[in-house]
Amino acid sequence: MGRFFETLRHFIANMFASSSPGEDYINKLFYFFLILCVVILAVVLAMVLTGVIRFRAGKRPGEPEQITGNRVIEIVWTVIPFILVTLFFFFTIRYMRAINQPMAASGEDTIRIIAHQWWWEMQYPKLGFYTANELHIPAGQNLLMKIESADVIHDWWVPQLGPKIDAIPGRINFISIHSRNPGEFRGACSEYCGAQHAHMLILVVAQEKDEYNSWVKSQQKVAELPSDSTGKKGYQLFNEKACIKCHNISGTGSEEARVGPDLTHLSSRKTILSGMMLTTKENITSWLNNPQKIKEGAHMPDFMLNTDETTALVTYLEGLK
Ligand code: CUA
Repeated sequence: MGRFFETLRHFIANMFASSSPGEDYINKLFYFFLILCVVILAVVLAMVLTGVIRFRAGKRPGEPEQITGNRVIEIVWTVIPFILVTLFFFFTIRYMRAINQPMAASGEDTIRIIAHQWWWEMQYPKLGFYTANELHIPAGQNLLMKIESADVIHDWWVPQLGPKIDAIPGRINFISIHSRNPGEFRGACSEYCGAQHAHMLILVVAQEKDEYNSWVKSQQKVAELPSDSTGKKGYQLFNEKACIKCHNISGTGSEEARVGPDLTHLSSRKTILSGMMLTTKENITSWLNNPQKIKEGAHMPDFMLNTDETTALVTYLEGLK
């Protein structure tokens, strides 16, 4: 029982956790709806219970008095819901405006997010680099995000950082993102988008300005060429085995390859496969050995690599810090 309450406490604490003004508004709106609905529930329950107890069979024999039509009651039950719905409408519109303030003139950096089956492409056009699945943002600053899709409808949602928004093919949606404090925030694709929808997680890392700037600098660097012979062999294989047709590694001339995630700084990211596995030697190895066993339906083919080839590629990829 103690465990149950602990889980419930944890659940409620996380459900309302907020690190952004947008999420604060959503929480406020939720509490407002919740309180009003609880009041309505209490009134209806009280009326039903009164009816059940006061007019129960056995107390008064025979048919009760039959009533058809009552103007006063009919007006009351039309006017009260009308007022409630108007209130809900008013507050919803008000908070929607507050959450999505016009930002075009603010000159803030825009981040371009492109949802793919099943990973997130992240582009920082002003800063000139690409990454995947892990979004870094400076804490305490408003940023504008452009949300797009490369294939089907997906949905961006990081609950602690405000509302969700669909990624729709052929359309650009905008959302502002802001984190009051530094920290890590988890999210997930929230629109069913195929077999691996559940494995399309998001990690947002909000950082202090200095830390963020040094992250940006490290991401802007082109990938270092490996110095050891195994790594060099991996680099060669990366080009020969057509990995380069789908994955970009900056400095290798594959800038147009956007079918799979950008791997320029793969090892600087915590996870691979959109949050599915930690970025470890073992996990990259098993992914290369049998991608379809791990993420069935993903566009990554099995290249039938032998052990030496896998070791070389993993060494190269691990060196991409
Ligand atoms: Cu992408 Cu669900």
